[in-house]
Amino acid sequence: MSVITVTSQELADMSGEERALLINSLPGYKTGMLVGTCDTHDQTNLAIISSHFHLGSNPPLLAMILRPNTGKSERHTLGNILDTRSWTLNGFTLDRAARAHQTSAPYPKTQSEFDACGFEKEWLPAFAAPFVKDAPLQIGCVLREHHPLTINGTHMVIGEVQRLHYPAAARRLDGALALDVMGLVAIAGLDTYTQPDEGLRLAPANTDTASAAL
Ligand SMILES: Cc1cc2nc3c(=O)[nH]c(=O)nc-3n(C[C@H](O)[C@H](O)[C@H](O)COP(=O)(O)O)c2cc1C
Repeated sequence: MSVITVTSQELADMSGEERALLINSLPGYKTGMLVGTCDTHDQTNLAIISSHFHLGSNPPLLAMILRPNTGKSERHTLGNILDTRSWTLNGFTLDRAARAHQTSAPYPKTQSEFDACGFEKEWLPAFAAPFVKDAPLQIGCVLREHHPLTINGTHMVIGEVQRLHYPAAARRLDGALALDVMGLVAIAGLDTYTQPDEGLRLAPANTDTASAAL
């Protein structure tokens, strides 16, 4: 098998687009989420984001990395989160992947991706941001910390999970969620959408015995 070696100099010499596509592939598969927000005038916004990560369970924290506004493009999700301190994360199934992908187009602030891309809004009591109706997994977050990152101008936003909605059938006896039962899509890079199956589950590893399949 022939192997390609890429040096830091070759990375630096690549076109911006080629480097972005290559480096975006490296973190691997992540659950794709549609991030629902609104501004202080109830103008809604929906954007596909894949940079979510788990920061801790007590308190329950999820974080994501958002790109900054540039001269060429505005970032409505970031602005709305800083204004209202609330957002929703909404998983989606493969049959909705093309519409979910479409939310990454640079729609003007006055045009909601909910309407432009064919997603219905769902407002739930006492929560300031819109959910995607019929999303198999809905998560409501409130802003706990916001860190502009000096290394490249991106922003890390840290949210505390305030509410969760998922089908009862997806809840395992140990409390975890079976993502495959919900049919959640995973994303690789900026263009590949796939639906993982149940995979292989292993008992917690310890030093005395080999890991056993559950
Ligand atoms: C598969 C995929 C994953 C993306 N993940 C992110 C991400 O993690 N962070 C980010 O800032 N933008 C991400 N984007 C780009 C945003 O979806 C895009 O910039 C969008 O226009 C932002 O919308 P907004 O201006 O309404 O917030 C992703 C795009 C795609 C297609």
